Amino acid sequence: MKRRKRSQAQRDERRVSTVKPHEIGSMRAAGRLAAELLDAVEEEIRPGVSTAEIDDFVARLTGDRGAKSAPLGYHGYPAHCCTSINEVVCHGIPSPDRLLRDGDIINVDVTPLVEGYHGDASRTFLVGSVNPIAARLVADTYKSLWLGILAVTPGARVGDIGHAIQSFVEPLGYSVVRQFSGHGIGRVFHTAPAVMHYGKRGQGDPLLPGMTFTIEPMINLGDWRCQILDDDWTAVTLDGSLSAQFEHTVMVTERGVEVLTVGSEEVERLREAKIELPDTVRLSGLSARPTAAAEPAAASTAPA
Ligand code: MF3
Ligand code: CO
Ligand code: CO
Repeated sequence: MKRRKRSQAQRDERRVSTVKPHEIGSMRAAGRLAAELLDAVEEEIRPGVSTAEIDDFVARLTGDRGAKSAPLGYHGYPAHCCTSINEVVCHGIPSPDRLLRDGDIINVDVTPLVEGYHGDASRTFLVGSVNPIAARLVADTYKSLWLGILAVTPGARVGDIGHAIQSFVEPLGYSVVRQFSGHGIGRVFHTAPAVMHYGKRGQGDPLLPGMTFTIEPMINLGDWRCQILDDDWTAVTLDGSLSAQFEHTVMVTERGVEVLTVGSEEVERLREAKIELPDTVRLSGLSARPTAAAEPAAASTAPA
């Protein structure tokens, strides 16, 4: 039997990403910068701004913090972040020719590399006044991300995450993109496991303390099918319907989950979305809850 030799990079991508206690500080730093970038980008979102200007802004702030943008040059990707507008599902390439227009929805996805570790997060922003159907899609997609996060606890399985997301959005008439998934993350940008945003309870890899991965549901107003444009990156809905996405990087803890890319206004947003977090969910990034701060640090460390 002939076995093809794999490169080190290919082996790394097959390994489930698990961080050791001494690596958690760097994962938190990377997650915190991702949150800071998105908080800053949010201030720049208005009609007339080009997606290239958003990219320049991300590039500058990342450099100012002494970090690198992992997307730049990743499999040849040409920019610092992804800017995915309206029917663009993900991997939209920033361009000086695409100006934000009143009524657009835009996902900005950033992945700074800090101390050798990746923090990956995205949010969908509303540009000016957005019609209520699009605004509701964005709000429901945000909620679906957090329902996925709430399914993360040691002993649960990857399929529980997808199930939580799918069983919330499909009854609302939306569809879940199947071509792209969340992913393990750490020293390597994309590793196992693939975190599908649809699925069955109790199926897939078990979640163990120290595992770090993203959850990043892409939810469509119409059909879930996508196609890739001629630039080989931009994924759009096949039917042209709107698509929204939110992404956080998380770590499985002994007690539950730690969200590493929390924005400064996330707690208010969670309240608006009527999402209550049990005290097994620790928030880190730019906003921490008093309950989470009281939790002993050791509760979120992986076995050595
Ligand atoms: N940040 C994206 C993700 O969530 C990946 C972007 S890869 C790029 O996994 F090359 F398109 F930037
Ligand atoms: Co990701
Ligand atoms: Co991302």
